[in-house]
Amino acid sequence: MKILVTGGAGFIGGNFVHYMMKEHKEYEILCVDALTYAGNMETLAPVMDNSKFKFVKADIADRAAIYKIFQEEKPDIVVNFAAESHVDRSIEEPELFLRTNVMGTQVMLDACRKYGIQRYHQVSTDEVYGDLPLDRTDLFFTEETPIQTSSPYSASKASADLLVQAYYRTFKVPVTISRCSNNYGPYHFPEKLIPLMIANALNGKSLPVYGRGENVRDWLYVEDHCRAIDMIVHKGTVGEVYNIGGHNERTNLEVVKTIIRELGVSEELITYVTDRAGHDLRYAIDPTKIHHELGWLPTTTFDNGIKKTITWYLDNREWWENIISGEYQDYYEKMYHNR
Ligand code: NAD
Ligand code: DAU
Repeated sequence: MKILVTGGAGFIGGNFVHYMMKEHKEYEILCVDALTYAGNMETLAPVMDNSKFKFVKADIADRAAIYKIFQEEKPDIVVNFAAESHVDRSIEEPELFLRTNVMGTQVMLDACRKYGIQRYHQVSTDEVYGDLPLDRTDLFFTEETPIQTSSPYSASKASADLLVQAYYRTFKVPVTISRCSNNYGPYHFPEKLIPLMIANALNGKSLPVYGRGENVRDWLYVEDHCRAIDMIVHKGTVGEVYNIGGHNERTNLEVVKTIIRELGVSEELITYVTDRAGHDLRYAIDPTKIHHELGWLPTTTFDNGIKKTITWYLDNREWWENIISGEYQDYYEKMYHNR
């Protein structure tokens, strides 16, 4: 079995590569990644010498490059993680999100159609459902919740999902889609809430909380997400959407205060900054379908997962310090100066 993993030099794709190589030692894993600012070969360093692993640098929106890879490598399963993934960047530069997330997905689907595969899996997000009100904790996203997007990022991911479903219906490409809540864990790029707060706290820098920190996210330890995708590509029903989430809802302020407590730094580092435009209030997944159909349940609680994550960032300072010492500085200045 050969699995083509796009975006494997990023956060979740990288964790998925490590997970699959551990769980399916007989599989060949082919990672295709354009190595944008978010792609990091250091994330793949532990598997680079493994004969079952191969890396190819390519852009998923580059049709000729992707067709050549399919022709030469003949993957059995494709898992598409490659994307522009940061909401704040999508507010600054929407076009890049449409190119990679929509056009890139279309190229991948065309390649699957042309060369034939056993399964194409699209890694989507709960953000395609928009948001839920803060005062209705009885409401959750199910697979039937209508798509209603807020940011250019979520609009691009929703567009990709619709294309995936269209290629299933029209061309019979054997697809599945998963829509997961917020992930956290090792190799998470420090532009996102949890790694940014850990890195800033360790460097004694202010902790920029958008608005009043009341927005709620449903946090899932990344390994639980990887296991869910593994189950879907092997046992999931073709044409279906699966929500993934583990009822770990926290306000942003709760998350930041947990990190502060774990690291023993001062709450005075918290700085309330201008809110994100169009900021989604609450995400909360109902994972009943994947639980009932595939037997998936998360295994890592937030309390345990955040401890493991903080330990990873303490033990792997070089990984994230290399990132924040480079062009990340310009990004940080642009996004947070005078905010
Ligand atoms: P990430 O930004 O950490 O990694 C994205 C990876 O894709 C990088 O390695 C980057 O180099 C690569 N990439 C970007 N554009 C590319 C292109 N044109 N061609 C090839 N490679 C390209 O993202 P992530 O947080 O790991 O998210 C992975 C996927 O999971 C995305 O599709 C995202 O929408 C989805 N998702 C993320 C979360 C989350 O909490 N992070 C939750 C649900 C779903
Ligand atoms: O729900 C899944 C989504 O989760 C994925 O599809 C996205 O790819 C992923 O980036 C994530 O999106 P969010 O916008 O929820 O994640 P982010 O880490 O950017 O922000 C989490 C919350 O924290 C959000 O309410 C905004 C807030 N925030 C974020 C940053 C970076 C802050 O308060 N301060 C910050 O500096």
